[in-house]
Amino acid sequence: MADTYDLIIIGAGPGGYNCAIRAAQLGLSVACVESRDTLGGTCLNVGCIPSKALLRASELYDDAQNRMAKMGVKVDKVSLDLPAMMGHKDDAVDQLTKGIAYLFKKNKVTHIVGHGRITAPGTVAVVSPKGETQTLQTKNIVIATGSDPMTLPGVEIDEQRVVSSTGALSLTSVPKHLLVIGAGYIGLEMGSVWRRLGAQVTVVEFLDRITPGMDGDVAKQFQRVLKKQGFTFKLGTKVTAIDKLKSKLKVTMEPAQGGAAETLDCDVALVAIGRKPHTDNLGLPGVGIETDKHGFIPTENFKTSADNIYAIGDVTHGPMLAHKAEEEAMAVAELIAGRAGQVNYNVIPGVVYTHPEVASVGRTEDELKQAGVDYKIGKFPFTANARAKINGDTDGFVKIIADAQTDRVLGVHMIGPHVGELIAEAAIAMEFGASSEDIARTCHAHPTLSEAVRQAAMGVSGRIMQM
Ligand code: FAD
Ligand code: NAI
Repeated sequence: MADTYDLIIIGAGPGGYNCAIRAAQLGLSVACVESRDTLGGTCLNVGCIPSKALLRASELYDDAQNRMAKMGVKVDKVSLDLPAMMGHKDDAVDQLTKGIAYLFKKNKVTHIVGHGRITAPGTVAVVSPKGETQTLQTKNIVIATGSDPMTLPGVEIDEQRVVSSTGALSLTSVPKHLLVIGAGYIGLEMGSVWRRLGAQVTVVEFLDRITPGMDGDVAKQFQRVLKKQGFTFKLGTKVTAIDKLKSKLKVTMEPAQGGAAETLDCDVALVAIGRKPHTDNLGLPGVGIETDKHGFIPTENFKTSADNIYAIGDVTHGPMLAHKAEEEAMAVAELIAGRAGQVNYNVIPGVVYTHPEVASVGRTEDELKQAGVDYKIGKFPFTANARAKINGDTDGFVKIIADAQTDRVLGVHMIGPHVGELIAEAAIAMEFGASSEDIARTCHAHPTLSEAVRQAAMGVSGRIMQM
């Protein structure tokens, strides 16, 4: 007899594992099928966690070399132990993936290792790493199979010299010259890691700006700061070929709109031009699910076009972020358990974990202009924030956008120290429908970076105090 569950989840990333744990807490019998040996998906294995471990470690190296002496802390002979740094990253991944395994046990989620395929409504066939197939029956299926790096036509990723983010997380030596293709989240975070460790970094971006979709003022300041850190940018440019020569890579590029080609030599090229949904060999056509032209599974309130089959996380629409997948995971578990579940897509923060950090939540000025919404802005620079000054970390600002009529906060965009933490205040304010005046009237501790958020809120009504 085939095993029978209330819910089978395919994929154990932030979408899959959170869904499994929440559904089990709500009393459902749950199995989670994952083809990797370890749990946690892209995020824990080759994404958020290892990249942030390297960002933190490389920042310490950079601080010791370039910043600490200014505060009177002299360190002689700072040196890099790359294998130890990679070891720190691998330990973090190991501990956190094991943490999910512990939570599965604690919540009685059945973990099945293997490739899952939907063979009929309510049936999932799992092929184990040894090639054995088991067939499972279930009332509901959640697809949480995530995404893979996009590739450039004619450019083969070998994860040694031409790498995706996965290879960039495990280089065995610091490249002399790293070419980054794509000035988005991955390009700028991984570019920062290797720049701090000593690589020359050139970023080639198709568009005429970095971090498309983010606030324009923030992006301009971000690019200025990264240039100061030694990044070189080639905007409005596309890579057309990478020749793998014995001692180097020869990269051919040309203006995005066409024109004369040029070449550039480097040791490692990182292709970071976005990610695409992962639906390979999942059996979707057999149950009547069609992906859209970009490969995403279309959903309405997490439901696919097939009864009792749902999709969440990177494999469906919306920002490809771990916390977006987690929100959807909890909501869909609640729905399947017969409760209410929803996600507020207007309040999904985004953070780039460079130094300074970049963080935003809600709508940008461009979006509001396009939608014909009248708005007011308050802006406050970290140069005028006491804590930022004390810390010697004053690059950046907080920008709050509020509705011109109601004063409701519509978007908050920041670049600066620890803004990845400060953005939570903005997200909570927006979730509660706060006005800029609500934030401005809330007492913030002194001296903290969060005072910059309050001052920006005061700025919406023209009453900044500390400038
Ligand atoms: P995934 O995490 O991709 O998990 C899907 C899982 O499904 C995978 O483990 C895969 O092996 C498994 N799977 C696929 N098909 C099958 C199948 N048929 N059978 C069994 N198993 C299957 N987001 C943030 O919010 N913050 C960050 O700081 C951040 N940093 C990132 C850094 C990098 C370098 C990268 C690449 C991504 C980063 N992201 C970050 C994005 C984040 O990792 C993803 O948005 C998130 O992992 C998506 O979760 P998911 O559950 O939808 O899919
Ligand atoms: P991205 O979408 O953030 O950036 C891709 C960049 O590549 C864009 O600027 C785009 O214009 C550019 N581009 C596209 N085609 C190009 C081409 N042919 N030549 C040159 N440039 C080109 O994608 P990225 O950086 O690959 O990351 C994928 C996703 O992973 C992100 O969108 C984000 O959702 C997630 N992520 C999140 C992180 C975080 O939350 N801190 C960190 C890393 C990844």
